[in-house]
Amino acid sequence: MLDVIANRHSLRTYTDEKIEWKKIKVMLGECMQVSSYKNSNYWEFTVEDKDLLHKLSKLHYRSSHISCSNICIAVLGNRDRFIKVGKWVQGLGSCTQNILLEATNQGLASCLGGVFPKTKRVDYVREVLNILENLVPYALIPLGYSDEEFELVNRFNKYKIHINLYEK
Ligand SMILES: Cc1cc2nc3c(=O)[nH]c(=O)nc-3n(C[C@H](O)[C@H](O)[C@H](O)COP(=O)(O)O)c2cc1C
Repeated sequence: MLDVIANRHSLRTYTDEKIEWKKIKVMLGECMQVSSYKNSNYWEFTVEDKDLLHKLSKLHYRSSHISCSNICIAVLGNRDRFIKVGKWVQGLGSCTQNILLEATNQGLASCLGGVFPKTKRVDYVREVLNILENLVPYALIPLGYSDEEFELVNRFNKYKIHINLYEK
């Protein structure tokens, strides 16, 4: 597990190799294991593997890499299951992180693309993927195999940790 966390990295170039569907199924299964407010399971997903990847890549200036991904998962929140204001955001963050970690575990490259809370991005993804009004596009996760090389960075900083009282 520690290896997977340390090796997770945003990679934005992908080869043409197809991702096996069973890998996606495992990933989404793991998403649905995350904690949610009063077990309200407010997540839904769309999995795009065709022409719309190009349209999704036009989301904003830092999403062009989506067009060369093999699959793009959209993580969505289901308003009908939002029991309390704002709680769903944390749950979908956990779902998203599980996808990124399971992708790394399976040897796949990924790079999170933020959608919510920017209204323009939410509306764009809704339109491209034909998403119903009760669902809120939260994040896009393009996936693929990659040849890209990267260096592991250790971001540990002891000054970020405060034991008991906050110290400057
Ligand atoms: C909420 C969020 C939104 C992000 N949106 C984008 C994005 O739109 N395009 C992109 O290329 N990277 C995006 N990233 C990836 C970050 O740029 C990346 O995680 C950061 O540079 C650290 O690099 P690492 O993921 O390799 O550790 C996003 C990350 C987060 C957490």
